[in-house]
Amino acid sequence: MVNRVLIIGLGLIGGSLAKALKKKQFANVIVGYDRNSDDVQTGLDLSIIDEGSHHLADAVKVADIIVLAVPVKATEAVLFDLKPYLQAHTVITDVGSTKSNVIAAAQNVFGSIPCNFIPGHPIAGSEKSGVASADDTLFAKHKVILTPLPESDKSATSLIARMWQCTGAEVLQMDIERHDEVLAATSHLPHLLAFSLVDTLAKEQDSTEIFRYAAGGFRDFTRIAASDPTMWHDVCLANRQQILSQIDNFTDGLAVLREAIVKGDSQSMLGVFTRAKSAREHFSKMLSGTAYSQPHHNSQVTFFVRSAASLQGRIRVPGDKSMSHRAVMIGALAEGVTHLSGFLESEDSLATVQAFRDMGVVIEGPHQGRVKIYGVGLHGLYQPPGPLYLGNSGTSMRLLSGLLAGQSFDTELLGDESLSNRPMERVAEPLRKMGASISTSKNGGAPVSIKGHQKLFAIDYEMPVASAQVKSGLLLAGLYAKGETRIRQGAITRDHTERMLKNFGVELSTVNGVISMASGQTLKATNLDIPADISSAAFFIVAAAINPGSDLVIEQVGVNPSRSGILDIMKLMGADISLNNSTTHNGEPVADVHVRYSPLNGIVIPEKLVSVAIDEFPVILVAAAAANGVTCLTGVGELRYKESDRIEAMQQGLLRMGIDVVVKGDDIFITGGELRGASISSYDDHRITMAFAIAGTIAKEEVMIEACSHVATSFPEFVEVAQKAGIRIHKEKANVSS
Ligand code: S3P
Repeated sequence: MVNRVLIIGLGLIGGSLAKALKKKQFANVIVGYDRNSDDVQTGLDLSIIDEGSHHLADAVKVADIIVLAVPVKATEAVLFDLKPYLQAHTVITDVGSTKSNVIAAAQNVFGSIPCNFIPGHPIAGSEKSGVASADDTLFAKHKVILTPLPESDKSATSLIARMWQCTGAEVLQMDIERHDEVLAATSHLPHLLAFSLVDTLAKEQDSTEIFRYAAGGFRDFTRIAASDPTMWHDVCLANRQQILSQIDNFTDGLAVLREAIVKGDSQSMLGVFTRAKSAREHFSKMLSGTAYSQPHHNSQVTFFVRSAASLQGRIRVPGDKSMSHRAVMIGALAEGVTHLSGFLESEDSLATVQAFRDMGVVIEGPHQGRVKIYGVGLHGLYQPPGPLYLGNSGTSMRLLSGLLAGQSFDTELLGDESLSNRPMERVAEPLRKMGASISTSKNGGAPVSIKGHQKLFAIDYEMPVASAQVKSGLLLAGLYAKGETRIRQGAITRDHTERMLKNFGVELSTVNGVISMASGQTLKATNLDIPADISSAAFFIVAAAINPGSDLVIEQVGVNPSRSGILDIMKLMGADISLNNSTTHNGEPVADVHVRYSPLNGIVIPEKLVSVAIDEFPVILVAAAAANGVTCLTGVGELRYKESDRIEAMQQGLLRMGIDVVVKGDDIFITGGELRGASISSYDDHRITMAFAIAGTIAKEEVMIEACSHVATSFPEFVEVAQKAGIRIHKEKANVSS
């Protein structure tokens, strides 16, 4: 344990740190010193410090840690005063919001930076000031940036890190220049804008009127103009260069917006506003841990399911995920404005939207499934400002790999833990044959790095794996390649890319499983109505088929034959399924799917149906568990490469529910039986989670499924739709600290 911590400067930050350290008993004695002896007395009266000191020299001599909580410009003078009394073992830190000048001050005083001097900056504050406002929770869940130098003592750095962690703060390390640059952009510039805006408006003749009617926007935007003027004066001098370059950046951005307003250029205005809005939402979700942008979800969602009586009525499930991704990608590459309806607002498809916004495409929405995409043409994308983060979405990553291989800029694609472990070489390898420069991680997954400015050549490619994502990635690269791209597929995989490209005016043919497409074609914007996702409908198709008395209609589902294997498999098992109101939307077959309960029998699932029901096997295996007799599913090795190893996930979960499951290599054998209640792992996989929720509808006791937040990948409102259909399910959320 540390013996004595000396805090020099008992303002809001110094006082709050003293109070938090005292409360957490970080040291035997917390000593406070301030030039203003009244503040020291207040600190003692309010029990913020254990001891007050009126003689800096005495306090410095016996301190183990000294925290300089003084205005940045006073740092040099204070260091000068304490230097003669400093002991070799004492560690010094500070709390200044600029760091280069603190280092310069230390250099001036000591000649070189002492290895025990560890500069720091807590990113926390309030408009209140003074020791009386000290708040021991001020730093909790806030970030503290330490900027040690290469020569700094490691144990001194970890001692200061420990001190801040003890207040509940999260400690990060950065180098000094980066710290000052980041702070100029994220803190200094906004404060200066707030001061300047209020000052400008206050100078207007009718300023009283303006302020009287100033609505929430003005109040929110200018809240920080009430901060301490002297402190901000000092910050401006201390971080002059970085602040000036941020002001220039901002002025350039404002000039672009001004010009758009002068010209009445709606697309540019909407571009600025939609990009900013989505970036703002992206940040808030990131900070609260609720978006695809957050690799580790902070909120733990658990599903509880009890056996359902029966499923009744009519339901709608959200738009098709595969088509939603493709519509945004192809719409962005088209010339003109594309309108979508029925777009899936899930984390996966939003990852694709965000990626294109990052590449300069103006996209309005999604709002109630409506999206407006201002296409930029095949060569109109811009280099994104950083890596594209694609969360859990394999479709985004594989399709974008192809599309980006043909651009004139470099890109890097990142994903969450699950996506980073999925095979990307299957698309990278044929892209290299086309002339792309693309590399994957050591294990062949993400990050995927793609170099721009490569000349692509069309290839004639025989697909070794049945993968619509690989096929689609190659077709998108083919748009940029010289010659005719030919793809030969052994098994049928979803053909949404082919159908959609045709909607955008691309000439492409498929004859006996061979797709041919010439390059150099222009894509023309169009309007698309995306049908409901059969992969989401699948959960309710099975639920209605296995719960006695059920009679359920799922409206306007996409029933493209390259996706509808589940209907064939369920019918082979004896399910009562019919299609009504059949129609087509933009060349995609659509129908209401009507399912009534009827007893199911185990079957040998024909291998030719595997690729057209690939995403539905988790729930099909639940149907098998409810059927009489044995179901054999063979040749499904691909299931091991989905969002989880789905063979393993289903085997483990069904075994826990008392079902006899045998796995031999890539084949699964399930003997139907009575399911019992259990607690099941979701394997962080949306479809595993939903499949076991359906298993819960026929289990004897309650089923609890852990870690269900990934359902938002494809079907954020799953629980609500399930409840509407009659399933007795509810979710509970708990916040977990990461
Ligand atoms: C998809 C293709 C399939 C599927 C995935 C979506 C697509 O993946 O499993 O959920 O949108 O093209 P593979 O191409 O890996 O089979």
